[in-house]
Amino acid sequence: MSNAVSNELENQIISNIDDLKSQPEAQSIIELSDTESIHYDGRHYDLIYDNFYPFSNLAKIDIPFWTDMVSQYGEPVLELCCGTGRIAFPLAEKGLQVTGIDISDSMLGEARKKSDRVEWIKADVCDFDLGKQFSLIIFSLNSIYHLLRIEDLESCFNCVKKHLKPDGKFIIDMLNYYTKPTIEAMWSPLPTLYSVYPDPDGRGTMVVTVVNELDVSAQIAKSKLFFRLIEQKKEFVEETKLRLYHPNEMGNLLKYNGFIIETQLGGYDKAAFTSGAPNYIAICKLGQ
Ligand SMILES: C[S@@+](CC[C@H](N)C(=O)[O-])C[C@H]1O[C@@H](n2cnc3c(N)ncnc32)[C@H](O)[C@@H]1O
Repeated sequence: MSNAVSNELENQIISNIDDLKSQPEAQSIIELSDTESIHYDGRHYDLIYDNFYPFSNLAKIDIPFWTDMVSQYGEPVLELCCGTGRIAFPLAEKGLQVTGIDISDSMLGEARKKSDRVEWIKADVCDFDLGKQFSLIIFSLNSIYHLLRIEDLESCFNCVKKHLKPDGKFIIDMLNYYTKPTIEAMWSPLPTLYSVYPDPDGRGTMVVTVVNELDVSAQIAKSKLFFRLIEQKKEFVEETKLRLYHPNEMGNLLKYNGFIIETQLGGYDKAAFTSGAPNYIAICKLGQ
C-alpha cells in the first residue's frame, strides 16, 4: 500500500488550501513535552515526508545524488543521523555496505523493519566508537542542524576523523538558509501547511502546519509543528530547535577541526555553491 494520500484527498486539500492553512479549530490541544515527538516517531516520519506539501518528491530528491557519491568515493558508507533509513535503505538495496547510526529507538525501529542489510546502530553522533573505518561518511539533509552547540559539532567531527579511512571522504549536506527568500519565510508569523497524511494509528487524516521563529543572533530556528487530527478535532503541538549553521561558518569549522574542503556544491544537481544556492554541500577529506 502506498504511503501517499489518495488523489481524491490530494485534490480536496488543494481546493481547501486556505482553509487548511488557517489555525485549526481543535477542541483538544495537547502540548508535547521535550521528550515526546510525533515528528521523530518513525511511524509518522516517512508519512510526513512522503506527503510533504506541496506534494513534491522531497522524500527521494537526494537519493540519486548520494548513490552517485558512493560510486565516486566508495564503500563502506556510514550515515550519521540515518533516521528511518530514507537514504541508507536504498543504498543498501543496491548491494552497498551501509551502516546507519541514530539516537532514536523509534526511528531505528522503523528502519529495521525496512531492511536487515544495513547495520543499524543506536548511538549519539557526538560520541560513538564503532571500531571500524569507512570510505565515506555522510551527514545528509540538515541533520547537522540538530547539533545545537559548537562543542557538540566538534565532538562529532572528532568521531568522524577516527572513523574515516586515510583517503576517505566526509560529506555534509545542509540547506542554505541564508538566502533572502528563505530568511523571509522563516520570519513569517503565518502558519504554513507542511504535510497531510493518513494517521498510522487509524485515527483519520493528520494535517500538519508549521510556524517558524528565527533567532538571528543565536542562529536558532524554533519551529512549532501542529499535528491536527481533522476528524477528531484534536491537535498535538511539538516544538523543535535547529542551529542554522551559516555555510561560511561551517567551512571554517571544518577547516579548524582538521578537514580540507575539496568541493563545495550548491545542490543535488552538483552545481558549484553560490550565495543564492539552495544547499551547501561540503565534500571534505582529512587534513595532513
Ligand atoms: C531530519 S532527521 C534525518 C533522517 C535521515 N538522515 C533523512 O534524511 O531522512 C534527523 C535525525 O537525526 C537524529 N538525531 C538527532 N540528534 C542526534 C544525535 N545527537 N545523534 C544521533 N542521531 C541524532 C534524529 O533522531 C532523527 O532521526
